[in-house]
Amino acid sequence: MGAGYVLAIDQGTTSSRALLFDADQRLVAAAQQEFPQYFPASGWVEHDAEEIWASVVAVIRAAIGKAGIAPSAIAAIGITNQRETAVVWERDGGRPIHRAIVWQDRRTAEDCAALRRDGVEAEVTARTGLLLDPYFSGTKLAWLLDRVEGARAKAEAGALAFGTIDSFLLWRLTGGRAHRTDATNASRTLLYDIHRGGWSEELCRLLRVPAAVLAEDGDCAADFGTTDPALFGAAIPICGMAGDQQAATIGQACFTPGMVKSTYGTGCFALLNTGSKPIASRHRLLTTIAYRLAGRTSYALEGSIFVAGAAVQWLRDGLKLIASAQESGPLAATADPNQSVYLVPAFTGLGAPWWDAEARGALFGLTRATGPAELARAALESVAYQTLDLVEAMRQDWTEAGEARVLRVDGGMIASDWTMQAIADILAAPVDRPTIVETTALGAAWLAASHAGLWPDQQGFAARWQCDRRFQPTMPAEVRDEKVAGWRDAVRRTLSGAG
Ligand code: G3P
Repeated sequence: MGAGYVLAIDQGTTSSRALLFDADQRLVAAAQQEFPQYFPASGWVEHDAEEIWASVVAVIRAAIGKAGIAPSAIAAIGITNQRETAVVWERDGGRPIHRAIVWQDRRTAEDCAALRRDGVEAEVTARTGLLLDPYFSGTKLAWLLDRVEGARAKAEAGALAFGTIDSFLLWRLTGGRAHRTDATNASRTLLYDIHRGGWSEELCRLLRVPAAVLAEDGDCAADFGTTDPALFGAAIPICGMAGDQQAATIGQACFTPGMVKSTYGTGCFALLNTGSKPIASRHRLLTTIAYRLAGRTSYALEGSIFVAGAAVQWLRDGLKLIASAQESGPLAATADPNQSVYLVPAFTGLGAPWWDAEARGALFGLTRATGPAELARAALESVAYQTLDLVEAMRQDWTEAGEARVLRVDGGMIASDWTMQAIADILAAPVDRPTIVETTALGAAWLAASHAGLWPDQQGFAARWQCDRRFQPTMPAEVRDEKVAGWRDAVRRTLSGAG
């Protein structure tokens, strides 16, 4: 069997996956492994970078085994990853100095609040497109340097390396030869000037991060290095790298300004491509790098919601109303249309456009007649309403986005027809579900394969994107308006400032 396979490594928040595509962009094998989550204190979330590494090696070997190919038949590797999660390791030997601090971790909330009190948020936002929120890597990195004994001095002496998961995996895959990252992952650290496209000395000073720990930044498609032959028996070129939400944007071929994708996993992340223009949000969306190719940066407005699929998990594991996620849609379909039950799933605070870390989840409109079906409907509809909040904020931030844009969707939840129809109805806009649902991995694979000259360029790749089903809005405007007004009221009552 000849060369020409492309391997995508998708290192997510709860599992690591390896997906092998052939020269014709067909998925030929996939492997997945979960790894432990650590919650050492309330609001803290950690991963063991060694366990992540072991899971990545295991899934790569498993995918190669399932495909029955020689490792040397893999022509290129693309890495995509959970973003913002911070790892610091020894340059000598590669040992992490502490568990990785995960993007969901809120331990640096007070550090962020102190920086806000110092009046620096506007400056930070202007440079990074982000907000002073513990979600991003910068304050997590400073925490590690401050709290791990001797770390700061070692970092200043150049003995430590920092990376988001992309950099850590690249370091390990190349046997410690490459310490690099790409512009999308760098843009989530609070240390990166997204306009200039480089690490910012001012931000490093503000967050007390020695530049010596930072990786070399660059394009998403590049020669990042080759795998250490001791790992898989071949020196495979690594040519693609992007944060998972950006990789999904690429996999959905949202290359034209105005195109929007929304990924429904544990949370939901919507990205609107704004082209070469970084758009500053007036509605607390993030301005972020969508991708950087051949030195040219494309930007996106991003809305991040922390609970989407997690609301269905709560129905299943918390309330035990359903035995499997697939049951949620059919159950919601039987709900009484005369009951107005709302769930605001602020289980870990509210993300965009509210950014209220203190808010907690709430249910409204319960009556004696409320049962499992109404709760299931409220949970699924909360995903649609939150998407509406993001899309409306995007439209207001960037009028060029137009009125009734199509939303391209991906992630585990898109299997639910009921939920997709609810999103179309609440947005009053069409929702497109692609035939290839592995869009995140596909995006990473395209970065690597196009760089290696195996797959078509942007245009050719975009032309192959196919819609499995378009969900058209069917809800009468007056019904929708009333439902949306009810949601707005429920959110107002849930915000932590609400009296
Ligand atoms: O910003 C966090 C995001 O990248 C995590 O994505 O799919 O690993 O939950 P996921």
